[in-house]
Amino acid sequence: MVDRKMRSLWLRRTSRRLSVQYSLLYTGLVLVIFLLAYFVSRYEMRDWAKDLMRDDAASLQVVFDEGDLDSLRASVEALSRLSAARMRIFGLFDEAGNAISGKLESVPDVRSSTHVSLRELGLPPDPSGEVDGYWVQIDRIGPWTLIQGISDEVIFELLEALVAALVFGFVSLLALGLLLGSRIGRLTEDRVAIISDVLGRASSGDLSARIAAKDPAFDDLGQVETRIDHALGQIESLVTAQRQITVDVAHDLRSPLQRLRQRLERLAPTSRFEDDKAAGLAAIDQIERTFNALLTIADLEHGQSAFDLAAVPVGPMLDDLRDLYEEAAVIAGMTFDVSSPGPDVAVLGNRNLLLQMLGNLVENAIKYCPRGARVAVSATSRGRQVDFTVRDSGPGMAEGFLPHAYDRFSREDPSRHIPGNGLGLAMVRAIAIGHGATVTLNNLDPGLCVLVSGLFSSSVNEAALFEGRVAR
Ligand SMILES: Nc1ncnc2c1ncn2[C@@H]1O[C@H](COP(=O)(O)OP(=O)(O)OP(=O)(O)O)[C@@H](O)[C@H]1O
Ligand SMILES: [Mg+2]
Repeated sequence: MVDRKMRSLWLRRTSRRLSVQYSLLYTGLVLVIFLLAYFVSRYEMRDWAKDLMRDDAASLQVVFDEGDLDSLRASVEALSRLSAARMRIFGLFDEAGNAISGKLESVPDVRSSTHVSLRELGLPPDPSGEVDGYWVQIDRIGPWTLIQGISDEVIFELLEALVAALVFGFVSLLALGLLLGSRIGRLTEDRVAIISDVLGRASSGDLSARIAAKDPAFDDLGQVETRIDHALGQIESLVTAQRQITVDVAHDLRSPLQRLRQRLERLAPTSRFEDDKAAGLAAIDQIERTFNALLTIADLEHGQSAFDLAAVPVGPMLDDLRDLYEEAAVIAGMTFDVSSPGPDVAVLGNRNLLLQMLGNLVENAIKYCPRGARVAVSATSRGRQVDFTVRDSGPGMAEGFLPHAYDRFSREDPSRHIPGNGLGLAMVRAIAIGHGATVTLNNLDPGLCVLVSGLFSSSVNEAALFEGRVAR
């Protein structure tokens, strides 16, 4: 089970899968070619053996034609003696089937051009065990019968040499193919990993990530890399321009708003317009809060906000959080639990921003949960990390809204009758990122769980944190 899982994980890399597929295909093809080569060579060798024996028969026919039966017998005798012990056999028989010359003692009952065993030829077994039989050729020369054979050992030896050469070639080709395949695969894999990493960083908001592709591109993957870099550059400048507009508007409207506030405040108190004046000032407060939130988010996202970092004891900070929101939770008819970690746990961060981050989440829970709901805040410390969790037992978020929850001004439809600007979670994420942490939203059915994970515990040296030398 585990084995199969490991195998499927191993094969999930495209380059590995391709290299295995190509190797299998290659092996299959090479095997077919080698089998073909083997059978063709075997056929050719038998043909060669047949030709050799036919030539010998033709030469002996000439000896007979130009001489007589005695010269024929002498030649067969000489050939028989000349040929290596086991390689060739000759037998010359008269019309009555008596052996006249050669090694064979009687005419064997066999057909020409077939493989005949030693036993059928009336020969003793080969002591070396390497000869099983002979490929025989039967010819008539004058009144006599010439039987000659080539031992299968010759053919098998030649085939053995051929098979050895083929196997050696096959194995070296296969090893070379696999080696080159995996080397090229590894190079491609590394490049794909970089592309995937850059796209992952971009999709989690880091639009400055680039592949740093070679220009001009070396290959088709290089072209893809260049295009991704180009597209990311375009997206980054568009997003920056869009954010800049929001920030510029917020900046530019600050002074007129302040003047408006001063004028309203300078108005002489008259009972007739006092309510309008208060409503106007409250509206200005709201607009200023929105602008401030927008500017803070932009600063945090661009790393321009040089906020102070210090060791923030988590317990006392959570006590303050409880003091700030307990009353509002009780008024909303909810239970509010805060569980602090041990007294020694502290995070490296900015206390005001962290309190604002947790406050936004608690405010949301109080705002969007019905009476009787439960809101719980907890902090856990794991080695050099501290995680915060804010969970409630309210309606949670529509799954389709989850990916947009951090977008500025995005609100779910059912929440529109509740006051808010849709900036709270954008601020939560910006503060978390500013502290090197991540935010995850999970529906609990019922309820929502917001996890801010990976804040650095105060044991982490601040300088190391900014030099990126901190291992999580
Ligand atoms: N705990 C929650 N339960 C259910 N829905 C929530 C919860 N928290 C946030 N939401 C949904 O996510 C939306 C965005 O929340 P966010 O905090 O960013 O903005 P807001 O609360 O609407 O306004 P603001 O925080 O700026 O006053 C909310 O409008 C609401 O629809
Ligand atoms: Mg909110």
